[in-house]
Amino acid sequence: MQTIEVIVDALSRQGSNNVALTLVSAEGGPLPPWQAGAHIDLHLAPGLIRQYSLAGDPQQRDSYLLCVKREAASRGGSRFVHDTLRLGQRLTISAPRTIFSLQPATHSVLIAGGIGITPLLAMAHQLDASGQSFELHYYVKTQADVAFRARLREGFRHGSCTLWSGCEGRSLRRDLPPALEQPEGRRLYLCGPAGFMAHGASEAVKRGWAADSIHSEAFAATAAPASSDPATGFTVTLGRSGQSWFVPPEKSIAVVLLENDVDVPLSCEMGICGACLTPVLAGEADHRDTVQSEAEKSCSDQQIALCCSRSRSPELVIDL
Ligand code: FES
Repeated sequence: MQTIEVIVDALSRQGSNNVALTLVSAEGGPLPPWQAGAHIDLHLAPGLIRQYSLAGDPQQRDSYLLCVKREAASRGGSRFVHDTLRLGQRLTISAPRTIFSLQPATHSVLIAGGIGITPLLAMAHQLDASGQSFELHYYVKTQADVAFRARLREGFRHGSCTLWSGCEGRSLRRDLPPALEQPEGRRLYLCGPAGFMAHGASEAVKRGWAADSIHSEAFAATAAPASSDPATGFTVTLGRSGQSWFVPPEKSIAVVLLENDVDVPLSCEMGICGACLTPVLAGEADHRDTVQSEAEKSCSDQQIALCCSRSRSPELVIDL
């Protein structure tokens, strides 16, 4: 996987609990292009690689902007960014990857919960730059939590931004954006905690939104669904070489492949980044990632997340 050396060029507090990072190329010059909704891997320390969405304007090629919330239950990444990262520090990052991307629509409705603002702010920038109509709804617990307040205050030419504060009785559960009443020709993008997105999506479906017009991005793995037979392993076969190995219940496909010197592009190892998605050639995948939509998980050209998904059939043949 391509990596890039960058320098932390700016750190700023964004609301009471978030810190924004501006990264510039260590060699100078522009960074690789990206689309709104993209994320990068941040190599924070040996063994500590975390994924963060890009929040800035995709047209701006001289820097990447990220925003990281201080998480009480941090697995290390949030704590490192908040407590250890310093201005001028050199970091390695991956090139941007896009899994959560804008689709054509007459109007786009962007609904962010908390730090879920990061990819949706980039989407607002991209829609605004291309003259497409949109509205951004940003739900926070308190007004003090708002990130990128200065940018949001500037407003947009082709879209609006509405702040909703739970402390003022305006949570997504109590107060839905009126735009959800009109699904025709529109696309809905949700980003935030899993329960927040599930509620937004189910309320949209009740109001006539087609499932394939609703897009969301998870920030954490959801509980894995029960396997058809968790006590039984299966065989994974590489379509190109024909090599096969048994995958026992306690190991992931990725672990078995790595143990056998097969290169697997891993990043989050939680089914949320898409780095390890690999086409399935035969067999029935038992999908446990949150990076693919239900439509992608059931289409004929399926991909499987090798870090977390399993097989419902005795053998799974993958395109490696
Ligand atoms: S490594 Fe991120 S989805 Fe598998």
